[in-house]
Amino acid sequence: MLPKSGSAGKPGNAHIWKAMVAPLPQTIHFHTSGRLIKVAPMNVFVTGGAGYIGSVCVEELLNAGHQVTVFDNLSEGHRAAVDPRARFIEGCLSDRALVQESLACSKAEAIIHFAANAIVSESMTNPSKYFRNNVAFGLNLLDAAVECRVRKFVFSSTCATYGMPERLPITEDLPQQPINPYGESKLMFEKMLKWYRQIHGLEFVGFRYFNAAGASARFGEHHKIESHIIPNILQVVLGQKTHVDIFGTDYPTPDGTCIRDYIHIIDLAAAHIQALVPGKQGFFNLGNGGGYSVRQVIQACEKVTGKKIATVEKPRRPGDPPRLVAAAQQARNVLGWNPSYPKLEDIVATAWKWHSTHPTGYAD
Ligand SMILES: NC(=O)c1ccc[n+]([C@@H]2O[C@H](COP(=O)([O-])OP(=O)(O)OC[C@H]3O[C@@H](n4cnc5c(N)ncnc54)[C@H](O)[C@@H]3O)[C@@H](O)[C@H]2O)c1
Repeated sequence: MLPKSGSAGKPGNAHIWKAMVAPLPQTIHFHTSGRLIKVAPMNVFVTGGAGYIGSVCVEELLNAGHQVTVFDNLSEGHRAAVDPRARFIEGCLSDRALVQESLACSKAEAIIHFAANAIVSESMTNPSKYFRNNVAFGLNLLDAAVECRVRKFVFSSTCATYGMPERLPITEDLPQQPINPYGESKLMFEKMLKWYRQIHGLEFVGFRYFNAAGASARFGEHHKIESHIIPNILQVVLGQKTHVDIFGTDYPTPDGTCIRDYIHIIDLAAAHIQALVPGKQGFFNLGNGGGYSVRQVIQACEKVTGKKIATVEKPRRPGDPPRLVAAAQQARNVLGWNPSYPKLEDIVATAWKWHSTHPTGYAD
C-alpha cells in the first residue's frame, strides 16, 4: 500500500493512484531551456527528485510535457524542492514492495535514478552506508523496473568512477578505477545495468557527471552537509561562514590549485530528457571540458557577488587529483546535447540568484 500524504497529487492508496494517472497526448514538440527537442511525452519515475539535481530535472521534465512521479525518502532532499506539478511519494528504496507498487501505479515508462548518498569523504568513513543505499537498495529499483517492463533507465553516475585518470580530458573508454567507496558503489551499479541490459533487455543511459553547479529560478542547492565549493563560497558571501578553505596550493596547475569541470544542472537536466529518446543508450560524460581552478571559482564568485571572499590555504586532501575534466563529445554526438551554460560566471550567477533569495536554503 502506498503511504498516505497530505501532498497534492499523492494518493492514499493504489486504486486512487491509478485513477490519477491521466493519459498523455500522442506527441509533443517542446522547448526546454530555449532548445527545441522532439520527444514523445512519458510517465517518468524520478528517484531523488527532492534533491539538488533531481529537483531541477523534474522541473524541466514537467516543462517539457512529461508526467512525473517523484520518489524520495527526504533523507537529504526537501519537500519544498519537489515541483508541485509532480506527484510525490515519500518512500525509501529499501522498501522493495513499495518501490514495486509505486512504479506500477505510476505507469512508469522511464526511470531517472538520482537517489543515492554522494559525499566522498563520508564514504571513506562509512562505506557500508554507500554500498547499502547506492547498490543494494538501488537493486530493488532495477528489479522493479524489469518487473514493470520499464522502457528506459537513466542513471546518475559520476566522474568519481574514473579515480585518478590516466589522461585528460577524460573519455568514457578510460579505465574506471575508483579510489573511494562512493565511486566504487556507482561503478558497481553501472555494471549491474550492463548485466540487466544483456539479460533482461533493459535499455539504459548512464551519465557520469562532473561537478554539478548552478540553480534554476525556483530550485537550488541545499545539502545538509555541503561539500561543494560554490555553495560554500556563497555562504561566506552571505556571512554564514568566515572563510573558504583552499585545499592544496602546490598542484601542477597554473595557479597551484585543483581544476574541476563545472556543469549547470539545467544542462544536466537537458541531457536526461534527451536520454529518454528510444534507442539512445550507453555511458556518457557530462561536463564542459577545460575546467576552472579553485582560485578561478573564487574569483568568479567575487565578480558575480561584488564581494571579497576570505580564504584560508590548507594542505592537500588525500585522493584529490590535480585536474578532472570531461570529454563530452559522445553526449553531443549521440544525444545531440549542447550545454547552454559553458561559462563558470554564468553558472555562478544562477547559483547566487538562488542563494541570495534563499539564504538559509529550503525551510524544511
Ligand atoms: N552533485 C554533484 O555534483 C554530482 C556529481 C556526480 C554525480 N552525482 C550524482 O547525482 C545524484 C544526485 O545528486 P545530488 O547532488 O542531487 O544529491 P542530493 O543528495 O541532493 O539528492 C539525492 C536525493 O536522493 C534521496 N535519497 C537518497 N537515498 C534514498 C533512498 N534510499 N530512497 C529514496 N530517496 C533517497 C535524498 O533524500 C535526496 O533527495 C546522486 O546519485 C549523485 O551521486 C552528483
